[in-house]
Amino acid sequence: MTDRRFPQVRMRRLRRTDWMRRLVREHELSPNDFLWPVFIQEGQGRQTPIPSMPGVERLSIDRLTEAVAEAAELGIPAVALFPATDPTKKTPDGEEAFNPENLVCQAVRAIKAAKIDIGIVCDVALDPYTTHGQDGLLRDGIVVNDETLIALGKQAVNQAEAGCDIIAPSDMMDGRIGAVRAALDAAGFDQVAILSYAAKYASAYYGPFRDAVGSKANLGQGDKRTYQMDPANGDEAMREVSLDLAEGADMVMVKPGQPYLDIVYRVKTTFGVPTFAYQVSGEYAQIAAAAERGWIDREKMMLESLLAFKRAGADGILTYFAIEAAKRLRAGW
Ligand code: PBG
Repeated sequence: MTDRRFPQVRMRRLRRTDWMRRLVREHELSPNDFLWPVFIQEGQGRQTPIPSMPGVERLSIDRLTEAVAEAAELGIPAVALFPATDPTKKTPDGEEAFNPENLVCQAVRAIKAAKIDIGIVCDVALDPYTTHGQDGLLRDGIVVNDETLIALGKQAVNQAEAGCDIIAPSDMMDGRIGAVRAALDAAGFDQVAILSYAAKYASAYYGPFRDAVGSKANLGQGDKRTYQMDPANGDEAMREVSLDLAEGADMVMVKPGQPYLDIVYRVKTTFGVPTFAYQVSGEYAQIAAAAERGWIDREKMMLESLLAFKRAGADGILTYFAIEAAKRLRAGW
């Protein structure tokens, strides 16, 4: 760079008008950047607000298909489904995960039956189904790794059979991407993609999500620090990503999002693979709550927070704001 100095150089020249700012803008948000996470529940015509996520509702399947049709119409490429499982269906080993008639499988089939042109992402992890709320199988107080892998493979195949397009392992067991890939391929699902929650941290930002799916009480005083990553670590995230890619992940994710933008940047620049960030429930709740109090502008904060992911290098963002942001972008920002 051969930058001269002030007064020859005046950075404000390029900020003078709206058209000039648009002309030199480096990053742009589009509905194509969004994956929309949706909470689902049993029943008919049900739409239940989640108190710790103002503006987000848990939907029964009939409402879900309407909402997903709207998402597709807005140009959002994919939805991620999260079931709030009936507590009576939870067991220590989470067998409901393998039930072809479980809530998430029914939801996938309903979206496919409605012929909505949108990708469907399903989480792989046992926490929606276990009485202890852990993502894996619990043996003598320990979340066991290798036995869990077998369960995750079965869960992934069950979801693929229902029509899921992208399997997203969120459990952080070692070797799960390889195990899930092998299970999918053996069952004939070599076209089902894997979006790995590769760098997933043990985070306080997941609190409202656990309210939404009803796993908070199950987890109780437990935590997930023996498998999710220590928030203090950055280099370790690079190892996690490289292992998941070697095991067959098609896309990788960093989670949470905004507090971990350094990781998003490093993953994208180091590996150059499709990299996603999850603006998680606690990030959403912070913005929604402060906006409710009138302390910040909800829409502006929403768009600025989403744009930050693009600047950091994310190819896409899982965000509870997806519908609202897509509508706002359509109206022009
Ligand atoms: C489940 C899962 C969690 C989230 C996505 N999948 C919670 C957890 O790991 O406890 C969090 C998403 C959010 O907070 O928005 N394995």
